[in-house]
Amino acid sequence: CSAHVAANASSFSSCLASHGVSNFSLPASPSYNTTLNFSIRNLRFTLPDVTRPAAIVLPVSKEDLRRAILCARDSSFAIRVRSGGHSYEGLSYTTENHIRFVVIDLMNLDRVQVDPVSATTWAETGATLGELYYAVGRSSRSLAFSGGSCSTIGLGGVVSGGGFGLLSRRFGLAADNVLDAVLINPNGRVLDRHSMGKDVFWAIRGGGGGSWGVVYAWKLRLVPAPHNVTVFIIDRTGPIEYIAGLVHTWQLVGPNLPDEFYLSLYFPTGSSDGNVSISFEGQVLGTKQHTLSVLSQSFPMLDVSESDLSEMSWVESTAKFANVDKVSDLLNRQPGTNSYTKSKSDYVKAPISRQDMVEIVRYMSARPPGSIILDPYGGAMARIESGTTPFPHRAGILYGIQYTVYWGQSDQAKADEYIRWLRSLYAYMTPHVSKGPRGAYVNYLDLDLGANNWTHPMGGSSMEAVLHARSLWGAAYFGNNFDQLVKAKMTIDPENVFNNAQSIPPLY
Ligand code: FDA
Repeated sequence: CSAHVAANASSFSSCLASHGVSNFSLPASPSYNTTLNFSIRNLRFTLPDVTRPAAIVLPVSKEDLRRAILCARDSSFAIRVRSGGHSYEGLSYTTENHIRFVVIDLMNLDRVQVDPVSATTWAETGATLGELYYAVGRSSRSLAFSGGSCSTIGLGGVVSGGGFGLLSRRFGLAADNVLDAVLINPNGRVLDRHSMGKDVFWAIRGGGGGSWGVVYAWKLRLVPAPHNVTVFIIDRTGPIEYIAGLVHTWQLVGPNLPDEFYLSLYFPTGSSDGNVSISFEGQVLGTKQHTLSVLSQSFPMLDVSESDLSEMSWVESTAKFANVDKVSDLLNRQPGTNSYTKSKSDYVKAPISRQDMVEIVRYMSARPPGSIILDPYGGAMARIESGTTPFPHRAGILYGIQYTVYWGQSDQAKADEYIRWLRSLYAYMTPHVSKGPRGAYVNYLDLDLGANNWTHPMGGSSMEAVLHARSLWGAAYFGNNFDQLVKAKMTIDPENVFNNAQSIPPLY
């Protein structure tokens, strides 16, 4: 691994300059801190003990990107690639074991070209979901894209790891809608789906970012949207037993609704007055009347009324769920505020009993501040075979859970306490969630599951490193698809140039 040789910052900057790449920042540059911090979404990775990059390069073209990869390799730096910077464990702008590295930040590669006639788009991977949604919405009211809800997520990371969103029960993940890609391999070669080969094209669509090279652009399938969709956010507050009853019923309803329905559950933790609050967030590819008639029959306890519902264009709905004021705000890469966060994820295969749900809601409603989100699967998610892409959580999954704690600067002293609470909740959930292996979502990266150790890879044997990765996070994120990912890694990056704490290890 090149990081064993002393990395050299001046040879890196002269290499860039001699190839006409001028947009980069070194620690002494006035722009360095602003550029580094611009896309840090988790303040845990701004703390003083976190190793910072020796340089940040901001390519403005595919050729700049290729040069940045080659110069980093020539100067013996590890490479971290950053798109939207939302990695839960900061893997796009940090390294383990103080390995010297540079960040290639794709934020200037954000062009999105929509072709409404073929219902496809080519998007550079530095674009955010918001930029993509905006471009799709401008080109046609009857097209949409199936991605996530947060508009500032980068296409580089979200599509690489899957990309679950409000349309996934109808059209699958973002990764299920990739038609082609431009990948720059560790030797700077530019590959498309044919020249990269079947195994690699399969791996980049859900096998997680940072393992394969740099995806410069995605060709994505757009999906049909009705003139208006129906959206709602319904808040319910009450005693634990009442809320547990709603959540218990939701488990039976949410994953079994018709495909055009998305009904998720958002559970802010940290209520203190004995009552608990939850929100049901919904989007339906259909009218208010259709929404009312289906929900009043399938989920009478929710008691939806027409005044809870609004009709709007699909792109307006993306602004609503991204929590921004207007459609043009989807172009804003900077969210309101950042916080310190830690997240974990789970999958549920069998409904949790009502009695257990009461105890779970009681546990969740205890402090600290954070949120728990239950995402309904079923529909197209269940119909796509679990080996079609590396994302294995398909038929048999009722819903995914994301647990998060977050805090601000003033609560920094309580960080360990909050994270301990999150881990204890995760332990508490063990009997109720998937097992053998306990599943997790690679886009909700969680280093508690384990990490690669490239400096001492389990005594040096690549087989041991692969077994280590498979038994800890590999099986949780990818199930039976993990070995196929190792095979793809050996094809595209046998020297492990693109690595991180949970990247796919090569076997050599
Ligand atoms: P970042 O830039 O941090 O990249 C993540 C990983 O991908 C890193 O390993 C990075 O090196 C690699 N990478 C980035 N660009 C690459 C490229 N061009 N080629 C190769 N590798 C590349 N998920 C979801 O499915 N649905 C959702 O609704 C949400 N919502 C959500 C909200 C919020 C507030 C957060 C913080 C996160 C989510 N997520 C999510 C999770 C999100 O999908 C996940 O964190 C993605 O990896 C983020 O992608 P970014 O490009 O922003 O991150």
